[in-house]
Amino acid sequence: MSASADVLAMAKVEVSLSAIPEGKNVVIKWRGKPVFIRHRTPDEIEEANAVKVESLRDPQTDAERVKQPEWLVMVGVCTHLGCVPVGEAGDYGGWFCPCHGSHYDISGRVRRGPAPLNLEIPEYEYVSSAIIATDCRGGGLMRCIVSLRKENSSSDRRLERGEG
Ligand code: FES
Repeated sequence: MSASADVLAMAKVEVSLSAIPEGKNVVIKWRGKPVFIRHRTPDEIEEANAVKVESLRDPQTDAERVKQPEWLVMVGVCTHLGCVPVGEAGDYGGWFCPCHGSHYDISGRVRRGPAPLNLEIPEYEYVSSAIIATDCRGGGLMRCIVSLRKENSSSDRRLERGEG
């Protein structure tokens, strides 16, 4: 079953990429669910790629988690019991979940604590200068669309900044 155009329009969130400086996080709220977007620095990308994948609890390369290395897009829900992790925190330079102490690295991969899995990556695809993220694992009518555009747009007012 696919969502009708009007439902998808309601679910769509647009964010100007130019509004997210390098090294900063943005949190998009979509129907109460946070989606983290980080504009990563070259050092952070290098750090993410330097990790030995075989040492990870949920082994994933950084390349498997991004479409463009500088943009990391994740569902901001801890994979332990669903708290919202804090950005730029924890022992691995990424996110920290204070509920029970899960640490995620700069690729959103779990490195310590009770979380069993890495932070979820929503399915998304690039459409010219935009990133379109679809399906926050809800499927059907619960599709999530995040559109990141390089040009400024009137939708900027919907951008919510925060520590993600
Ligand atoms: S909910 Fe995040 S560590 Fe338990």
